[in-house]
Amino acid sequence: MMRQYLYSSTAAPGFGQVDMVDLLEASARNNAAAEITGFLLFDESQFLQMIEGPEAALQDLMRRLGQDKRHGDIALLEDLPLTTRNCPKWTMKRLRLGIASELQALVPRSLPLAIRRKVMDFAAHRAAA
Ligand SMILES: Cc1cc2nc3c(=O)[nH]c(=O)nc-3n(C[C@H](O)[C@H](O)[C@H](O)COP(=O)(O)O)c2cc1C
Repeated sequence: MMRQYLYSSTAAPGFGQVDMVDLLEASARNNAAAEITGFLLFDESQFLQMIEGPEAALQDLMRRLGQDKRHGDIALLEDLPLTTRNCPKWTMKRLRLGIASELQALVPRSLPLAIRRKVMDFAAHRAAA
């Protein structure tokens, strides 16, 4: 059974570009092996990440995320059943904040409305901050 999670978390103080590069490299490698796909948003203080794949693989990743000192305050915002992946080609895609219309175009059309809304809210809130 596949599922799709959306969670937010708070980056540890000092988390920067180099950390982000490391994180995306490890994620791409591990996720390809675990059949996890998804995307990640980061606004210099908060993360918003969507992960989709086999339920056991997602639970295993959530366990590792819970032990990762690079972030904290993990909040699971959505936990949905999934039949067809929304991001089959993204082992872990960084979606950059910036122009809302560009983000809107990148976010997969097939994404459940609840997740799309939270992604766009995250981006709008950060742009205004
Ligand atoms: C915001 C955030 C998102 C992450 N996303 C992933 C991910 O999608 N896949 C993954 O394997 N690790 C991810 N990690 C890293 C894991 O917490 C963990 O460090 C890593 O899976 C350990 O694998 P390694 O032993 O190969 O480094 C993420 C970490 C953070 C802070």
